[in-house]
Amino acid sequence: GEPGRLAGKRVLVTAGGTVERLDPVRYLTNDSSGKMGYAIAEEAVRMGAKVTLVSGPSALAVPEGVQLVPVQSALDMREAVLSRLGESQLIIKAAAVADYRPAVVAEQKIKKKADSLTLELIKNPDILQEIGTLKTKKQFVIGFAAETEALDEHAMDKLKRKNCDLIVGNDVSQEGAGFGGDTNVVRFYDQNGLVQALPIQSKWDVARKLLELAAERMAVAAGE
Ligand code: PMT
Repeated sequence: GEPGRLAGKRVLVTAGGTVERLDPVRYLTNDSSGKMGYAIAEEAVRMGAKVTLVSGPSALAVPEGVQLVPVQSALDMREAVLSRLGESQLIIKAAAVADYRPAVVAEQKIKKKADSLTLELIKNPDILQEIGTLKTKKQFVIGFAAETEALDEHAMDKLKRKNCDLIVGNDVSQEGAGFGGDTNVVRFYDQNGLVQALPIQSKWDVARKLLELAAERMAVAAGE
């Protein structure tokens, strides 16, 4: 992105999948590699922002100039994000947060016994939704929506329900989109509907375009 476009701004990015413990050696997680969120963090630094990256476990190198806050569970991520919310002007939630966690975390390794085992899961708090409730007029909030069907409808529903300024929809069933790879296929939406539909491109290019749009919208909102 254009250097300096985010100068003086504090940007809070989340990335990766959360890890929800079952016992000392087992957990539930998802396919998020962290690439999308790390690319956003890297590009935001390039545009002059002070960037904090709250990330679930990821094999990726921390981009230069980015302050990493490593977390495991959705509850950890919530704490890390909400404690830094007040100081952030731009919040971007690319993380794949587990919707549910095991109701009980066993202190000892769960023993093999009966032929079937039922796990009870309980709902995690929705961090983005909480941010949407807490955000002030000076804060700009971007969510992501990972869908496998009815992308426009589900992305718009999440945008409104979670009170985001923008949402990035990716149809993760599409070739070259979503979890794990270096590319993504995304659509940006605001409260009025579709803003931009991007063809397949690298996650860094997606990050740059998203941040350019956010910077533009934030400047307009600030009356610059
Ligand atoms: O990490 P990569 O391998 O590069 O993959 C990128 C990605 C596919 C993970 C990314 O592009 C993406 O779509 N991230 C959001 C994934 C997701 O969990 O989407 P969702 O539709 O379940 O959640 C919607 C939004 O609410 C997201 O911004 C999510 O961070 C947020 N959320 C969800 C649940 C929850 N308990 N708390 C949240 O804050």
